[in-house]
Amino acid sequence: MPDISIIPQPQKITIYKGTFPIASNIPILTDAANKKNAVYLKRLLSPLPNQKVKSSHAVHLNIRTKDKSLGKEGYHLKITPKEIAIEALTTAGIFYGIQTLRQLLPPELEYGKPLVKQEYVVPCVEISDFPRFTWRGFMLDEGRHFLGKDIVLRTLDLMALQKLNVFHWHLTEDQGWRIEIKKYPLLTKIGSYRAGTGTMFKGRHDGIPHGGFYTQAEIKEIVNYATDRHILIAPEIEMPGHSLAALASYPYLSCTGGPFEVATNFGIFPDIYSAGKDSTFAFLQDVLGEVLNLFPSPFIHICGDEAPKARWKKCPDCQKRIHEDGLKDEHELQVYFTNRIITWLAKKGRRVIGWNEIMQEGLREDAVVQYWLGKKEKLIEEIREHGRDVIVSTYLSTYLDHSHALTSLKDAYEFEPDFPELTEEESSHILGLEPPLWTEWVPGKARMDFQTYPRLTAFAETAWSSREGKNFDEFEMRLKGFLRRLDVLEVAYAGARKVKPSFFARLFKMFTIAIPQTKTARRK
Ligand code: ACM
Repeated sequence: MPDISIIPQPQKITIYKGTFPIASNIPILTDAANKKNAVYLKRLLSPLPNQKVKSSHAVHLNIRTKDKSLGKEGYHLKITPKEIAIEALTTAGIFYGIQTLRQLLPPELEYGKPLVKQEYVVPCVEISDFPRFTWRGFMLDEGRHFLGKDIVLRTLDLMALQKLNVFHWHLTEDQGWRIEIKKYPLLTKIGSYRAGTGTMFKGRHDGIPHGGFYTQAEIKEIVNYATDRHILIAPEIEMPGHSLAALASYPYLSCTGGPFEVATNFGIFPDIYSAGKDSTFAFLQDVLGEVLNLFPSPFIHICGDEAPKARWKKCPDCQKRIHEDGLKDEHELQVYFTNRIITWLAKKGRRVIGWNEIMQEGLREDAVVQYWLGKKEKLIEEIREHGRDVIVSTYLSTYLDHSHALTSLKDAYEFEPDFPELTEEESSHILGLEPPLWTEWVPGKARMDFQTYPRLTAFAETAWSSREGKNFDEFEMRLKGFLRRLDVLEVAYAGARKVKPSFFARLFKMFTIAIPQTKTARRK
């Protein structure tokens, strides 16, 4: 029996006797819709040697409309001794079929350099496959550390390998503004640089300037790269909190008028955008206007987490707004703020996502909530009463910046994003799963790899594969083959060594569960 280990595990695999000889010069026959997929596959196969190919041998990529059960992203892959055929309803489905074929090929292929062996074969199989969730995300925070274009492109490549389809790009923070906005040049001139980076010693930074941002031309290139890999980039522009970099650039957006500095330490800062000034909304709409031109994503993330109300309480403009709009307090003012942005974006045909702090009485029903912390009963109520769509990023289970002792590979694999309390219809509001990587303590690629892999691979399987078929021991067996591929791709993943949670890690977990949301939120 051939050794077939594919991650995420496909829904149905049938293995047949025989093999198909694969070579770099194998004809790829495709319909017009799959031209880009054909170029992608051709490049993937290019390290294989040329062989004398029989005239009947070929790879076929075709959109077929008959098997509706595969859904928008499913595919059917059939390998016989004569041909490889990938069929799907969409080009995304064909792309995922190619990713599965990729994992039937030797990991050495990933070097991208000519292979020395003379002949390569793939086993004869038939695979019918489709994802469990439509939202299979990964979030990268580039506010805390700017990682740069090469790392982002590599991230998109690695996501494609794991059939992940949403790159949630956290682009603005207290510690740095990372996106060029033509109308407000100071956002990058001032806001993208800081004097140093916080250390473990509270209040002290390392004194080493850090900064960087993406030009709009680079963003367009990255968005195109993602689109070719069937990955949606959901950009995140944080508001009203975590906005010191913007306030340092344009202090008039604050309640006090500043001055401010781009944050050098981590935490939650009291200075946030003023919700009382119309000029704040004019600014945010201008910024979002440029963001919309760069990102075709139907979803725009506006964050909404960890926004202290101290400044709003004392701000004459915010208080005037509360009074004139008959709002109860500063919490209702945040709902006003969020709804005003949602309404503006809705007119442009986009939907808002926010962290679950936005989930307050009166929030527009079309806002998607990203659940990270807090009472799940409240979330369930929102799903039932408002049909609220939800992305699951549970703090204690999915945060990739947490230590492996706190969230082991097994914990990551066994995390279940659905809630047993929900009916099947209600569960359809769980769009999917998205592990975030916050980068306070992630200055570069090596640490990013160590935190992310292979836990992201475990989450990718949960997001794609059927719940019933999941088994950690069996996943670990398949992971061995997958890690060989990551070795070739030079991914510095954390070792498979079993890490026993330390006393402190266990204490932290207990402590975090026991204390209420606002206190726990201070981790950022
Ligand atoms: C978050 O971690 N504050 C969403």
